[in-house]
Amino acid sequence: VTGQRDVIGLIGGTGSLGCGLAIRLAAAGYDVRIGSRAGERARKAAEAIAGRLDADGASNVSGDENLAVAGAASIVVLTVPYGALESVTAPLASALAGKIVVDAVVPLRRDGDDFDLARPAEGSVSMQLRALLPGARLVAALKTVPAPVLQDLAAPLAGDVPIAADDAEAARTVAAIVARIGGLQPRLVGSLARAALIEGVTAIALNLNRRYGGHANVQFLGLAG
Ligand SMILES: NC(=O)c1ccc[n+]([C@@H]2O[C@H](COP(=O)([O-])OP(=O)(O)OC[C@H]3O[C@@H](n4cnc5c(N)ncnc54)[C@H](OP(=O)(O)O)[C@@H]3O)[C@@H](O)[C@H]2O)c1
Repeated sequence: VTGQRDVIGLIGGTGSLGCGLAIRLAAAGYDVRIGSRAGERARKAAEAIAGRLDADGASNVSGDENLAVAGAASIVVLTVPYGALESVTAPLASALAGKIVVDAVVPLRRDGDDFDLARPAEGSVSMQLRALLPGARLVAALKTVPAPVLQDLAAPLAGDVPIAADDAEAARTVAAIVARIGGLQPRLVGSLARAALIEGVTAIALNLNRRYGGHANVQFLGLAG
C-alpha cells in the first residue's frame, strides 16, 4: 500500500509533534517535507533534524511553506494546534483534495489543572475536517503518540496507534506507515466518527502525565493479534 519513497508532508511540522514525526519517518526512509507558515522556519527545522540523522536519513528531510508541502506530498499529516485548524486548512483545500490527510490534531481545553476536550460541534476534529477539506481522504491517527518520545531517537517506541477512517484503503496506507516507524502497532478502531473516542484518550494521557510524570502512550492489552 505504501512505499518508502512516498512523500509525507507535515503541515505545521516545525512544532513538537511535526519534528518528532519528521525524525522518525526520515529515519524509516520516507521522503519527509516539513511545512510552516514561513518557509525559512521549515528549512531550519529540517536542517536541525537532518543533523541528528545519518547521511541516508538526512537526505530524506526538507522544509518549505505549508502550501508547497501540501502540493508536493502524496500523504499529509496535520500537526497544528486546534485553534489554527481553520486558518491553516483553508488555503490548502484544493491542494489536498484527493490526497490522504492524517489528522493528528486534538482539541484540548483546560479545566483547572486538568485537560478536557474542546469538542467541535461535529463531534471531533476529524469530522470537522470533512467540511474544511472536501475530497481529502481523511484518516484520524497519531493523536495519542507523545511527541517527546518520537523526538528522542534513542528512546524505544512502544504502544498502539488507534486509527479511524471511512476510507479503508487510506486507513491501511496510514497503518503501514505507522508500522514502518517501528515499535508502534496500528489499530483500526472504526469509521472516521470514532475519531472522537481517540481524541478523548489523549486528554486522559495528558492528565496522567501531569499526575504521575512521564509521557503516556496507549496500549490495549488482551488483543489476540
Ligand atoms: N505534542 C504532542 O505530544 C502531540 C501528540 C499528539 C497529538 N498532538 C496534536 O498535534 C498538534 C500539534 O501539536 P504540537 O505540540 O506539535 O503543537 P505546536 O508545537 O504548538 O505547533 C505546531 C506548529 O503549528 C504551527 N502553528 C502554531 N500556531 C499557529 C497558528 N495560529 N496558525 C498557523 N499555524 C500555527 C506552528 O508552525 P509555524 O509557526 O512554523 O507555521 C507550530 O510549529 C496539536 O493539535 C496537538 O493536539 C500533539
